[in-house]
Amino acid sequence: MTTYITTPIYYVNAQPHLGHAYTTMVADTYSRFKRLCGDRVRFQTGTDEHGDKIVKAAEGENLPPRDYVDRISRMFRDTWPLLVVEPDHFIRTTDPEHIAVVRNILQKVYDQGDIYFDEYTGLYCQGCERYLTEKELVDGNCPDHLQPPREIAEKNYFFRMSRYQQPLIDHIRANPEFITPERYRNEVLSFLSEPLEDLCISRPKSRLTWGIELPFDAAFVTYVWFDALINYLTGIGYPDGNDFATFWPVAEHLIAKDILKPHAIYWPTMLLAAGIPLYQRLHVHGYWNVDDTKMSKSIGNVVRPAELVAEYGADTLRYFTLREMSFGLDSSFSSAAIVSRYNADLANDLGNLYSRVMAMVRKYRGGRVPEAGGGDDDRLLAEAAGVMLAAYRSNMAGFRFHLALQAVWEFVGLTNRYIVENQPWQLAAEPERAVRLDQVLYNSLEALRLLTLVLRPILPEKSVVMGQGLGLAADDRRVSDLAVGALWGGLTAGSELVAVDNLFPRLEKQPAASAAPGPAEAVADLTDSAVTLVSLEQFRQVDVRVAEIVAARPVKKSTRLLHLTVRLPEERTIVAGIAEHYRPEELIGRQVLVVANLKPVKIMGISSQGMVLVAKKMEAGRERLVLAGISEEVSPGSRLS
Ligand code: MSP
Repeated sequence: MTTYITTPIYYVNAQPHLGHAYTTMVADTYSRFKRLCGDRVRFQTGTDEHGDKIVKAAEGENLPPRDYVDRISRMFRDTWPLLVVEPDHFIRTTDPEHIAVVRNILQKVYDQGDIYFDEYTGLYCQGCERYLTEKELVDGNCPDHLQPPREIAEKNYFFRMSRYQQPLIDHIRANPEFITPERYRNEVLSFLSEPLEDLCISRPKSRLTWGIELPFDAAFVTYVWFDALINYLTGIGYPDGNDFATFWPVAEHLIAKDILKPHAIYWPTMLLAAGIPLYQRLHVHGYWNVDDTKMSKSIGNVVRPAELVAEYGADTLRYFTLREMSFGLDSSFSSAAIVSRYNADLANDLGNLYSRVMAMVRKYRGGRVPEAGGGDDDRLLAEAAGVMLAAYRSNMAGFRFHLALQAVWEFVGLTNRYIVENQPWQLAAEPERAVRLDQVLYNSLEALRLLTLVLRPILPEKSVVMGQGLGLAADDRRVSDLAVGALWGGLTAGSELVAVDNLFPRLEKQPAASAAPGPAEAVADLTDSAVTLVSLEQFRQVDVRVAEIVAARPVKKSTRLLHLTVRLPEERTIVAGIAEHYRPEELIGRQVLVVANLKPVKIMGISSQGMVLVAKKMEAGRERLVLAGISEEVSPGSRLS
């Protein structure tokens, strides 16, 4: 079996946030799940880099569009490893192969008469990069951007989308799985119940040059959506590549509800016109709000993935978002919600079960897997595992991740009850019941192995540690292959367990600063009062990360300070007192260590959001500052631990 899963390609006019991270983590989880099922998988993400919006953003930064898009695209690419997201391909719409494919498809559709030239007057929303219909407006404004659209009259090229309206309706009706969840399928069908207008697919170069030139008229560039959607074909080598033949027939697109129309209407009609089979499925999820409020730069509540990872770890973020959001509906993010889910599900239920079973096997059986189980109640546990696995498989395959995790956690609860009911500590006190104790411990360990297996796609880091504890390497098929691993009884009697650290230490709900003892209190406990010792917890409150310097300039009226822009991988400003030791130009591209969670302070009127770490060195009687670094290049934003 093969799987091809894509995320939207993200606009480079904004830095990655929780919404982008969610879609990309879902796609990664799905691709890991499919690999667990034995599929050959291709997972693609990337960036959408042409159009008005991007030009405006580049102008805002005083950069040529090319430099600007390179920078932000790299920021997206560097964010994914922090979330343990591993795409097979990262596509950019400025890639030459992509440009060639867009031109090839445009020419094909033009040659067959589905593109025509016409004058058009319409209401254009810059934010959406498209013309809106009167009907879509709310109080005269674009409902998404809350701004009135501009009336524009110009000559342009149009794609005869209307010609494909009926074939599209027929396809959606005949294929109930084409757009899921059902509410979005209904939304599309309802939209298609009205006549479809043709789609304007060009922009005159007099207005926009940052785009792909039309192959049949050099005075125009391609409309961003006609350009962007084609990435799904380019990335797998359309038209002749082997990967295209392998993966296109199984293509699944993952998006949020904001871009339903381009994906459910523009894209399939484009494919029909180009004579390319339609994609298999479109999965549509809802929106993440923050503290029940829409995420927005102006409100200042935009949540950055790298910061969440630094605070909670990638696995916790993946688990939380997948468990919390009912796929298809909106959800709200808050620190309180992530902490309480972490404590309840990961620290209490799963973490305690794991450490409890491991501790008992160490204590009663010297840390070796005992002989396998038997008996009726044991069969019940094995059967419950079978039920969990079936629910897990079907819900993961159907993009109902919250239900898959619910089934897994029911099994965690059941295993906990199995232990309580069988009271291994009691059995251990009665030597004549040694065989029974073996059985109960073996079954509990098997439950842990199955949990390790099913959690691989969701907790890619912790599940590996869970497997190691059971003496199973990451690539051992009993924890990496659903067909082999699902069989009850995979653990071998006599094999040795390995001690692992507490998997999910409890998080305190209070803000870190107030939970920590003050320095005076800490010093009071010490015998050597000259040294202030901190606990590991305290040390972990300091967020030291690798940052890459992307810009450096002197601070006016200061001989000591430099104004640095660093990537973490999102960008931050840091004012550093190193001007007497480093020239700005020698800093660009350098990886340094910064404290990322210092309270921002204003220095010479500039808000400094962190501190660059340096060592001091005496040279010829003078003190020199030497930047702290890391011995090998790593992804910007990587946390030191
Ligand atoms: N460039 C287009 C997509 C072209 S695909 C051929 C675009 N880019 S975008 O940067 O605006 O990304 C939109 C996508 O980001 C959404 O569909 C979703 O995947 C993700 N999200 C952005 N904000 C989101 C939330 N607040 N919540 C959940 N996902 C969101 O549109």
